[in-house]
Amino acid sequence: MSNLLIKNIGQLYQIDKGERNLVRGSEMADIPSLKDAYLLIKDGNIADFGPMSVVPNINCEILNAGGKTILPAWCDSHTHIVFPATREEEFIDKIKGLTYEEIAKRGGGILNSAKRMETCSEEDLFQAAMLRLDEMVKWGTGAVEIKSGYGLNTTQEIKMLRVIKRLKAESPVTIKSTFLGAHAIPADFKNNRDGYVTSIIEEMLPQIASEELADFVDVFCDKGFFTIEETGKILEAAAGYGLRPKIHANELGFTGGVQIGVKHNALSVDHLEYIGDKEIDALKKSNTMPVILPGAAFFLRMPLSPARKMITAGLPLALATDFNPGSSPSGNMQWIISMGSILYRMLPEEVINAVTINGAYAMGLEKELGTITIGKRANLVMLKPIPSIAYLPYTFGENKVETVILNGKIVSV
Ligand code: NIG
Ligand code: FE
Repeated sequence: MSNLLIKNIGQLYQIDKGERNLVRGSEMADIPSLKDAYLLIKDGNIADFGPMSVVPNINCEILNAGGKTILPAWCDSHTHIVFPATREEEFIDKIKGLTYEEIAKRGGGILNSAKRMETCSEEDLFQAAMLRLDEMVKWGTGAVEIKSGYGLNTTQEIKMLRVIKRLKAESPVTIKSTFLGAHAIPADFKNNRDGYVTSIIEEMLPQIASEELADFVDVFCDKGFFTIEETGKILEAAAGYGLRPKIHANELGFTGGVQIGVKHNALSVDHLEYIGDKEIDALKKSNTMPVILPGAAFFLRMPLSPARKMITAGLPLALATDFNPGSSPSGNMQWIISMGSILYRMLPEEVINAVTINGAYAMGLEKELGTITIGKRANLVMLKPIPSIAYLPYTFGENKVETVILNGKIVSV
C-alpha cells in the first residue's frame, strides 16, 4: 500500500498519545490540537504527525492541505441502516398528531418494516444500505454501528446480519454489527411475549454466535416494548456468547433501562430522553457510554436529554444519528453536530469529542479510531476553509467536509 504525506494542515484536531479512551465531564470542552502540522500515513495507519517545522522529507504521495483543518472522521455508534423501505406514510400520520407509540400499536413502525423485510431480497437490502453508507461518508463518517431488528424471526434477523457482514467486507467504512432481535414483539407472538423472548435466547442467539454474525447485543428496553425482566434475561444469555450490550433505554419513560444496562456492563445506553439523578448515579459508577440521538428526539418532537446536566455531573457523552426509517431518517453526522450545539447546548469542542473519541468508544473502536494517534487507522476528514472550529456546528445544512480519507485512502466526496 502506498504512503501519503499531508502537509500544511492549518489545525490538526484531536491529537492523542493513545492515553485517552474517552473524555468525560469538563474534559469534553477540550480538544488537543496542533497548528501548522503534517501527518504521515503508512499502510492505512497514522504513522507520524508533528509541526511542519520538522516535516519529514519522504518520497511518497503528497496532499497539500493548504492551511485547512483535519479531524478524525466521525464515528456513528448507533444506526439501523439496513432496512427494506422508507416509511413516509407514517410521517404523515405523525404530522397529523399520532405519537410513535400509537403508530407502533396499530402495527406500524418497526412491525411495518418487519413485514416488508420478508419480501426484500438480501441483494436489494445490501445495495440500499451501501448507498446509505456512501452518502454518510460524504458527510464525513468513517465508522458506523449497524443493528438488525427488522427481521424479528431467526431467518430474517440472520438475513439482516449477513447483509451487515457483507457491508463490513465491501465498504471502506469500519462497521460494527449489533443483534437487535428484541426490537419489538412480532405480530405472530402478540399474545405470547415469553415465546418470543425464548426464541431469541434459544434459537437466534446460538445461531448468530456460531456464525459470528454480531459484535454486540441490543434490546429496545422501553414502555410498550421490552420490560426490564425480559431485557435482563436476554442480556444474560447474550453475555454467555461474549456479546456486550448496547441498549435502547429511557426514550419513552423512566423505565430502569439505564440501570439494567449498567448492571449488565453495557458498552453504551442510547436515547436517554428520560434521565434523572438515579440514572446519572448509575452511569457514574460504570464503564457505560451514554449516547444521545438528536435526530430521533427532533423527528419525534421528544423532550431533550439533559446533556448539560450529564456533562456537569462528570459523565462522558457520545452523539449518533440513529439513522432509521421510523424515527431518524438521516445519516448526516454534521447535522447531529449542529443539533448537539443548538438543541443540547453543547460547545463545539464537546460535540466534536462526542462524535470522535466518545463515538469510537461507544462502538468498541477506541483502540483503532476516534483520535489522531500513531498506529490508529487513518480515517480523517479535511474541512473546507472555515473561520474557526465553532463554524462546524454553527452552520447547518451545508457540507463542510472537503475530503474524506478512509484507511489512508482519499475517498471522493
Ligand atoms: O432507535 N427506538 C427504537 N428503535 C428505533 C426506531 C426504529 C423504527 O421506528 O424503525 C430508534 O428510534
Ligand atoms: Fe435506534
